[in-house]
Amino acid sequence: MEGKKLRLDRFLVNAGVGSRSVVRDMIREGLITVNGMVVRDISCKVSVRDEVSIEGRRIELAGKRYYKMYKPKGVITSTKDKDLTLFDLLVDIPRVEELFPVGRLDKDAEGLVLITNDGLLAHRLTHPKWKVRKVYEVYLENPILVGEVDILLRGVNLKDGPVIVEDVGISDEGRVVRITVTEGRYHLVKRIFSALGNRVLSLKRIAFGPIDLGGLSEGEVRELERKEIEELYKVCELK
Ligand code: URA
Repeated sequence: MEGKKLRLDRFLVNAGVGSRSVVRDMIREGLITVNGMVVRDISCKVSVRDEVSIEGRRIELAGKRYYKMYKPKGVITSTKDKDLTLFDLLVDIPRVEELFPVGRLDKDAEGLVLITNDGLLAHRLTHPKWKVRKVYEVYLENPILVGEVDILLRGVNLKDGPVIVEDVGISDEGRVVRITVTEGRYHLVKRIFSALGNRVLSLKRIAFGPIDLGGLSEGEVRELERKEIEELYKVCELK
């Protein structure tokens, strides 16, 4: 979800930059960039996902919000669907329509989903360039073989390009595997094990960058603490 779109001048007024006439002058003078491009049109529409800056300094809209949730299996990570979505579980969260999930988790997967209205942070957390670690615990149909751990660490060829697994941990005689990847491609973890001729029977995301599931129980949602938000900003090289 893009979040509600606002005219650029209204966005700047809401952000406390100045009165409508002041911000309009700033726009016309070419001081404002949207996603890196100078915009001189006061009626240009922007949302919380856009990076709006004044002379290179990003404007922080008051009211950035950050949550973590334990998505149960069977729930869809999108804003609207005929089936139960993550947003159906966000009862009691104010202004829920501004929020969006950071990346996706398959319907049959469970675990950590970050939810925010901070578009720039969400973009960096999911973009391969920033190499943010995601840790998954999978239960496999067949035990993983010792030699396959090396294959994972050296890189697996998928039809949309190779993927390197950063770290592998094994338990339950090779049936439970914890893998760390830094990308979020579609069905990535399932496809990695399918390339080894195996099958993921269940998949759980237990960490996203510096944030882990902690003590969350299924379906539970919790606002991130200041320290957690700072850690997320750090891994994305944001200030
Ligand atoms: N990999 C998958 O296969 N599915 C997910 O939901 C996340 C990573």
